[in-house]
Amino acid sequence: MTDSNTNKGLAGVVAAESSLSFIDGGEGRLWYRGYDVHALAKHASYLESVYLLWYDALPTAAELAVFEGLLAAERELPPPVLDVLARLSDSKSPMAALRTAVSVLGQVDPEADDITHEADLRKAGRLVAGMPTIVAAFDRIRRGLDPLDPDADLPHAANFLYMLTGERPSETAARALDTSWLLYLEHGLNASTFTARVVASTLADMHSAVTAGISALKGPLHGGANEKAMQMLLEIGATEAVGPYVDRALAEKRKIMGFGHRVYRAEDPRATHLRRMAEALSEDAGEPRWFEISKALEDTLLERKGLRANVDFYCATVYYTLGLPIDLFTPLFAIGRTAGWAAHVMEQHMHNRLIRPRAEYTGELDRPWVPIDRR
Ligand SMILES: CC(C)(COP(=O)(O)OP(=O)(O)OC[C@H]1O[C@@H](n2cnc3c(N)ncnc32)[C@H](O)[C@@H]1OP(=O)(O)O)[C@@H](O)C(=O)NCCC(=O)NCCS
Repeated sequence: MTDSNTNKGLAGVVAAESSLSFIDGGEGRLWYRGYDVHALAKHASYLESVYLLWYDALPTAAELAVFEGLLAAERELPPPVLDVLARLSDSKSPMAALRTAVSVLGQVDPEADDITHEADLRKAGRLVAGMPTIVAAFDRIRRGLDPLDPDADLPHAANFLYMLTGERPSETAARALDTSWLLYLEHGLNASTFTARVVASTLADMHSAVTAGISALKGPLHGGANEKAMQMLLEIGATEAVGPYVDRALAEKRKIMGFGHRVYRAEDPRATHLRRMAEALSEDAGEPRWFEISKALEDTLLERKGLRANVDFYCATVYYTLGLPIDLFTPLFAIGRTAGWAAHVMEQHMHNRLIRPRAEYTGELDRPWVPIDRR
């Protein structure tokens, strides 16, 4: 029954064609639609990069304004979604609440089962527009506050921060969140994107695929790592405690969250930006502690194990310094990645073949049947 093709964790297996992004793991480089992520992180906004991903071209100023306007008009949630969020206000897991709310969003979407490209684009737009409202509304409801209406005059990330806190954010804070979403936007066939593509390959709809993507992202080996990384930094608490913490973790063979990557052997280019952002925000906030602990941990792990920080590690310090609740870190990753999942769903729907691999069977065969009264 053995099959020499078995590959645990599908490492290195090419399972689909995609023109959305390319990762050069050896060199630590990443391109969205052929554009270096460093250039995009420096010059572009999140929605500009979403446009690039969905339409395979950078938008003109006029095109971008229309795109932003269309999405801003879709930020409000349908009443059933708000009702469900109110019922989930005791939930300990915002990721689980987001997963449920996105599923409800699909249930009430006017084009729920239409998987034509035009309908997919419109539904992707409604998801990207609505998910920040879901996360902000959930957080306010659990704090006993009324959800705030979106402000159509505010850009995407600034509007989210306003809906969460009730205050218009600084440009620095809005730009930092926007850039983190840009860096989370798309990353090839990672576990959640692969999951979304498998669902789409059955010709199931956009919301089903995105709901499945959220489920896969929830785990600590994937999107859940940014929350775990922050909890670890809080547990370490001081730069002097980094060495003993690493000694203990390595001795106990524990994974250190926010480190290591299946594809990158050089520095994850997204971490380069998030490290810079974490340092600048910490300086602005006059609270260098978390950045200093992060840097000490990064240096120690590189020296002792050759392990490098991934996208989730410095994102934790960025979000914490912005004052965002730790259990919203992974939902924020989901908000950024949704446009990437949607792009893969559209690519899959346009060139579909059912994704259906096989398993290597390791059990027995031809076991004799035993009637129930003789077992
Ligand atoms: C991302 C991750 C799942 C990749 O896993 P993978 O490709 O299967 O890599 P492996 O688990 O095979 O790791 C290879 C070696 O590095 C070690 N390693 C990898 N990541 C590690 C980490 N974060 N902490 C400690 N050791 C780690 C493994 O223990 C293994 O060592 P070994 O060969 O002595 O057994 C893994 O690095 C990890 O669990 N990281 C922490 C979670 C995280 O940050 N996830 C977000 C990813 S963007």
